[in-house]
Amino acid sequence: MLTNRTFTMIKPDAVSNGHIGAILGKIAGAGFRIVALKMTQLTKADAEAFYAVHSERPFFNELVSFMTSGPIVAAVLEKENAVNDFRILIGATNPNEAAEGTIRKLFATSMGENAIHGSDSDENAALESAFHFSATEQF
Ligand code: RTP
Ligand code: MG
Repeated sequence: MLTNRTFTMIKPDAVSNGHIGAILGKIAGAGFRIVALKMTQLTKADAEAFYAVHSERPFFNELVSFMTSGPIVAAVLEKENAVNDFRILIGATNPNEAAEGTIRKLFATSMGENAIHGSDSDENAALESAFHFSATEQF
């Protein structure tokens, strides 16, 4: 089990709005070490599998459609207390409720198109990292 690691995706809205560099800068500036990184585009099957936990939710089809609409940047990040500290750095799911200075406050456009993903537990961080990166791609 990985500890002190979390998984993130810069979502299609933030990529298409040109925020990759600014977001990676905020992440590095907050003390996270990037241990895996790639730009890719999710297939429908990828997005449905990644968000399977939300498959019964009313926004599931919209979420899958959005997450496959353009390239994303996936990364694994390392820092003490990574999962919780990263959730604080990205802010609330709804950018209108996100704290000042958080990534979602700065770069998200709506609840659905909210710029960035962060794992919600150590267990999911490990599963999500393995979904996107092989062991030899994580440093
Ligand atoms: P994430 O998993 O992307 O880091 O976001 P989160 O934990 O803050 O929120 P979660 O409840 O896991 O929801 C996953 C993503 O689904 C979209 N969503 N849309 N329209 C809606 O009511 C709604 N609710 C959630 C968001 O893109 C959210 O990040
Ligand atoms: Mg979540």
